[in-house]
Amino acid sequence: SQSEPLKVMISGAPASGKGTQCEMIVKKFGVVHISTGDILRAEVSAGTEIGNKAKEYMNSGRLVPDEIVTAMVTARLSLEDVKEQGWLLDGYPRSSAQAESLEKLNIRPDVYIMLDVPDDVLINRCVGRRMDPLTGKIYHIENFPPENEEIKARLVTRPDDTEEKVKSRLQIYKQNAESIISTYSDIVVKIDGNHPKEVVFKEIDSLLSRLQKDKEEKSKSG
Ligand code: AP5
Repeated sequence: SQSEPLKVMISGAPASGKGTQCEMIVKKFGVVHISTGDILRAEVSAGTEIGNKAKEYMNSGRLVPDEIVTAMVTARLSLEDVKEQGWLLDGYPRSSAQAESLEKLNIRPDVYIMLDVPDDVLINRCVGRRMDPLTGKIYHIENFPPENEEIKARLVTRPDDTEEKVKSRLQIYKQNAESIISTYSDIVVKIDGNHPKEVVFKEIDSLLSRLQKDKEEKSKSG
């Protein structure tokens, strides 16, 4: 029988590098990337009902109400591609209520990755972050400048990336982190995110490769 696909959660403070690592994970492992931040930003720019509700919360750096986000995520997780390719949940769960919602539905990851980065580094990463609205690619004015002038000219800054808002996002993250980790304490893997992105990915890569191999062995023997 075919082995079950990978199921991964990635967590970490604002700008700890979740989105950056997810790009690399998807490329290598082919899992479906589900980023609640990305989905919400798309809803906001499309001006949908969800987007209009979420906008104020996001722009001020607060969490969008659980009901809205949970409905979005469970709908996405029920689609066929997820069953076939596995999933990579980025930015969810972000509160103990969200973690509970998944537990009730029996949705559990194989691993809960936690990217660990010191506060002062996080603030610099947020303030320097730029996004390409055309490709969705993430840049940084110092760390990862755009490849050419054409891309540079169209880059945008997120409204929640000011120093003040980053600090309040960080505080909200810290308030919730512990209660979420307690749900996944048996599968938490902490990874030092304060290294070049390729170095961070190397660790994630070996972790996920090992997990995938275990799953293949299990499906052969079982
Ligand atoms: P979301 O988009 O999830 O924001 P976040 O958690 O604050 O995370 P970020 O996107 O800021 O950072 P990241 O970790 O992906 O870092 P990145 O790779 O970009 O959520 C936004 C908002 O949506 C929330 O505030 C909330 O309102 C709402 N929301 C979302 N999910 C929700 C939920 N479940 N419930 C309720 N509300 C929800 O990297 C950051 C920068 O650093 C980039 O410039 C990058 O180039 C650079 N960088 C990355 N890695 C490295 C490295 N190794 N070395 C040097 N620089 C690096």
